[in-house]
Amino acid sequence: MIQIAPSILSADFMRLGQEIHAAEEAGADLLHIDIMDGHFVPNITIGPAVVAAIRKITRLPLDVHLMIEDPDKFLPDFIKAGADYLTVHSEAAVHLHRTVQWIREKGIKAGVSINPATPVAQLESIITEVDLVLLMSVNPGFGGQKFIPATMEKIRKTREMIRVAGASAAIEVDGGVKLDNAKEIADAGADMLVMGSAFFESGDYKKTMEKLNDNFRNR
Ligand code: DX5
Ligand code: ZN
Repeated sequence: MIQIAPSILSADFMRLGQEIHAAEEAGADLLHIDIMDGHFVPNITIGPAVVAAIRKITRLPLDVHLMIEDPDKFLPDFIKAGADYLTVHSEAAVHLHRTVQWIREKGIKAGVSINPATPVAQLESIITEVDLVLLMSVNPGFGGQKFIPATMEKIRKTREMIRVAGASAAIEVDGGVKLDNAKEIADAGADMLVMGSAFFESGDYKKTMEKLNDNFRNR
């Protein structure tokens, strides 16, 4: 089944614990946590201390998306904080292969993300080494942006690359995923959908999950 990863970027940070519990109760599969450093992306969010606090209050796997420069420097901190998935940007990791291997050696799932302007071909030499490919469908930095339609073709190309290579990486799509385009994105070959604003601004998380289930998850 396609997994849904609510992004806490759009949650009410004042009530973060309750928001996470509500997402978990609604049936979310994992929790997407956006880490931004004000350098790789023009925004700043949270660090390992908050991830560690989240780890204590939920059983959901923590899908940590590092939008930071020099990610190697902070990997140990996020592993210690309890990340289950650690995803780095191919544009930010100079020695991507080493970084991914290092994450996996620690028993954590390793992901590689590419920005909208980065071609899928960039993944070719790493595709058999990763657990996750995170395709950005908006320019990273902010929630609530519009899905970039060219991502659809990138999903199909990545799916085909995984097939040809005999790889087992999952495809996650992040940015502008809404109730009305989620099915199309899943049909293109995505395994995991990040939902920030469409989830946390929906008011009723259970209903949102039910709609996703009716739409395509229970088919
Ligand atoms: C954007 C982040 C996303 C963000 C998605 O840079 O990586 O995870 O939370 O938000 P929506 O779903 O609102 O586009
Ligand atoms: Zn993200």
